[in-house]
Amino acid sequence: MGYKTIQVKTEGRVGVITLDRPEALNALCDALTTELADALAKFESDGEIGCVVLTGSKKAFAAGADIKELQSQDFVSLYMDDPFEKTWESVARFRKPIIAAVSGYALGGGCEIAMMCDFIIASETAKFGQPEINLGVMPGAGGTQRLPRAISKAKAMDLCLTGRMMDAKEAERAGLVSRIVPADDLLSAAMDAAETIASKSLPIAMMTKEAINRSFELGLSEGVRWERRVFQSQFATEDQSEGMAAFAEKRAAHFKHK
Ligand code: HXC
Repeated sequence: MGYKTIQVKTEGRVGVITLDRPEALNALCDALTTELADALAKFESDGEIGCVVLTGSKKAFAAGADIKELQSQDFVSLYMDDPFEKTWESVARFRKPIIAAVSGYALGGGCEIAMMCDFIIASETAKFGQPEINLGVMPGAGGTQRLPRAISKAKAMDLCLTGRMMDAKEAERAGLVSRIVPADDLLSAAMDAAETIASKSLPIAMMTKEAINRSFELGLSEGVRWERRVFQSQFATEDQSEGMAAFAEKRAAHFKHK
C-alpha cells in the first residue's frame, strides 16, 4: 500500500509512523486513519519490530478528526460504518509498545490517539485539548474515558467542558505526558526510548504493557493475582533464562524476542 497521508520507516527494531497531512494540521481523515491502521498491522506482524513511534509535524501531532469530513455525517452512517472502531481503535489494540511523540497541537481526536499510545513524550511546544464542545459534540474516541484516567476528573472536566488547551508543562504536571524535551530533540528522545524498549524481550515487554493496561480494567486483588500468574508464566520463556543467566555471568543479555 503506497501511503499518501503518513510516512513509514524502520530504524533497526523501531518502526516510525509520521502523520503527514500538513495542509490540514494532520487532521485525521478516513484515508489517514485507514493508512495508520494498515501500517500498524504490518508492524504488528513484523517480527523484527519491537517498538513503534507515532509522531506528527512540529506544528501539529494532529488537530483532531477531520471536521470537514465529519460535518456531513449522520447518526446512522456513523453507527453502521463505525469508522472509529475499524481504524482509530487499531492504535489502542496495537499489542507492541507504541510511543506518541507530540509536538504542537494534539487536539480532539489527536489527543485521543496520543492517549491510546503507551506513553507520550511531548516537546515543549505541545498543546493538548478536547475542543469538541466548541463544535457542538463531545469527544468520541476515548477522550471522556482515557483523560480522567490519565489526569484527574477535575482537569478532564475542565478541558472537555471549556474546550481550552493545556501546554506541555501543565500536561506533564497532570500526568498526561511522561516527559518534556526541547522541540528539536523530540524525535531523537522518542527514538532513544523506543530503541531501549525494542532491545528488551518483546514478549515480556508486550506482557508488561498488557498488565499495566489491565490495571484500568480490574480490581486490585484480581489485577495483582493476574500479574502474578503472568509473571510465573514468564519462567517458561527463553528470554527469562537468558536475562537471568546474563546477570549472573556479568554480561549483556541477548534476548531472542520470542
Ligand atoms: C479539518 C482542519 C482541522 C480539523 C485544522 N484544519 N484543523 N481541517 N479538521 N480538525 C485545517 C484548517 O481548516 C486549515 O485549512 C488548515 O488546517 C490550517 O488550520 P488553521 O486553522 O488555519 O491554523 P491555525 O490558525 O494555526 O489554528 C490551528 C488550530 C485550528 C487552533 C489547531 O486549526 C483549530 O482549532 N482546528 C480544529 C481543532 C479541533 O476542533 N479539533 C477537534 C476536531 S473534532 P484551510 O484549508 O482553511 O487553510 C474531533 C472529534 C474526534 O477530533 C472524535 C473521534 C471519534
